[in-house]
Amino acid sequence: LRRPMEKDIPELAQMAWEFEQYLLKVDPGLVEETPSKEVFKNVLEQGFNDPKHYMIVAEKKNDGGLVGLADFWAYPEFLHGGITGYFNNLFIREGWRGKGIGQMLFENAMAEAKGRGLVAMHIGVKAGNTKALEFYKKMGINEELVMLETRV
Ligand SMILES: CC(C)(COP(=O)(O)OP(=O)(O)OC[C@H]1O[C@@H](n2cnc3c(N)ncnc32)[C@H](O)[C@@H]1OP(=O)(O)O)[C@@H](O)C(=O)NCCC(=O)NCCS
Repeated sequence: LRRPMEKDIPELAQMAWEFEQYLLKVDPGLVEETPSKEVFKNVLEQGFNDPKHYMIVAEKKNDGGLVGLADFWAYPEFLHGGITGYFNNLFIREGWRGKGIGQMLFENAMAEAKGRGLVAMHIGVKAGNTKALEFYKKMGINEELVMLETRV
């Protein structure tokens, strides 16, 4: 595991695109269009050096390419009385799932959140992504909070 570098942005954008393709399969009713890799790249660049953003990636040995990523944003949330995290993206590339990498990335992000003094973490999971829900249950997350989404 390591922190991402600017040079990773194109590969991260590719992974974001693969993640969207995965989610489209989970929820075929999803009407949104997958943004282009260029759009993913631009948005990734915006968060890259922002101290409120944390990202961790898993890489194959000897610079062999990225296999997974996790990230969260931290923001002051008055109802929780402190800094709260929003953990939206945990993605392991096809062929690399079920090897403990998701757990490593998730635990790393939670340890970082603890170190930063966050009071809570909200974890975004698409309704219907039962595999991910099973994974998070396995990670000990049992409190459910429903989040709605709309385009603005
Ligand atoms: C969900 C995901 C992040 C899990 O990562 P992973 O690397 O495959 O999972 P791990 O190998 O670290 O599994 C950790 C534990 O969770 C369990 N687990 C993982 N996937 C599971 C599933 N689908 N059902 C039940 N348990 C599961 C594993 O069995 C393991 O427990 P064990 O140590 O007792 O065997 C990964 O499969 C993935 O990227 N999926 C596609 C994208 C996605 O849905 N992301 C999450 C939504 S934001």
